[in-house]
Amino acid sequence: MRIRRKPWARPELAEWENCIDVPAENRGKWHSVFKNDAPLMIELGCGKGGFISKLAVAHPETNFIAVDIKSEMLGLAMRNIKREYAAANREVDNVYIFSQEIMLINKVFSAEDKCDRIYINFCNPWPKTHDHKKRLTHNNQLMQYREFLKDGGEIRFKTDNDDLFLSSKRYFTECGFELTYVTEDLHNSGFDDNIETEHEKMFSEQGIPIKFLIAKKLTVNPFEIEASDVENKASQLENDADQPQNMNKN
Ligand SMILES: C[S@@+](CC[C@H](N)C(=O)[O-])C[C@H]1O[C@@H](n2cnc3c(N)ncnc32)[C@H](O)[C@@H]1O
Repeated sequence: MRIRRKPWARPELAEWENCIDVPAENRGKWHSVFKNDAPLMIELGCGKGGFISKLAVAHPETNFIAVDIKSEMLGLAMRNIKREYAAANREVDNVYIFSQEIMLINKVFSAEDKCDRIYINFCNPWPKTHDHKKRLTHNNQLMQYREFLKDGGEIRFKTDNDDLFLSSKRYFTECGFELTYVTEDLHNSGFDDNIETEHEKMFSEQGIPIKFLIAKKLTVNPFEIEASDVENKASQLENDADQPQNMNKN
C-alpha cells in the first residue's frame, strides 16, 4: 500500500514508551515487558491501527502487540491507540507496537512467549505464483507462527481476496491447523465479534464480501499428516465454503 511520507512518525514513535525500538531484545520475555501473565495476542500487519486500538482498549485483561514494517503506518497506529485510550480515560497499559519484517517474525517471538492468538487482516494477496511464498499465510510463515503460538491457540484471518482465501485454507490445513470457523461473507454470517479494519471498510463499501476464518493450532506434527488427508480436507473445505461452521469465539 502506498502511503504519503510522514516526517513526524519516527521522532514521535521514538518518544513513545509503548513503541519498542529493538523488539528482538524481548524475544521469549514479552510477558515481563507487560509485567503480567495475561493472554498475549499479536496483530501482524496492523496498518493504521484502527483494529488493534479498538480491540486492545476493549480488552484490558489481555496483552496485545501490533507489528508493521512501515513507520508511517506505526505512527498512525500510535495516534489511533492514544486517541482510543484517551477517549476511554485509560492509560495505554496493555498494547505495544514495533516495526518488524514479518517474514522474520521468529527473531522477535519464541515458544516462551506462549501467544494465544494471531490476527492477520487483509495481508497482500501476492497473486503471482512465484510470489506466493511472500503471503503472510503461506506454509513457510505458518510454520514460523506455530513456534510461538500455544497448542490450541488460534489465528484469525480476514481477506477480500478469493484466491488467497482458498489457498490459505489449504495452507492452514497442511500446517496442522483445524479450521473451526469459515465464512465467505463475514458481515452476513452472524459472527458478532468483529472489529472492522480500514481495509475491511474500504472493500465492503465496494460491495466485496469479507472472507474470514479461525484456525486452531493442533498439537500434531504437520509433517505426520497424510497427504491424502490434506487433499480430502481441502476439497471438503472448498465445497463447504459458504457454510459457517461452529462458532468458536474464545
Ligand atoms: C493491506 S495493509 C492492511 C492493513 C490493516 N491490517 C487493515 O486491514 O486495514 C497490509 C499492512 O501490512 C504491512 N505489511 C505487509 N507485508 C509486511 C511484512 N512482510 N512485514 C511487516 N509488515 C508488512 C504493510 O505495511 C501494511 O500496513
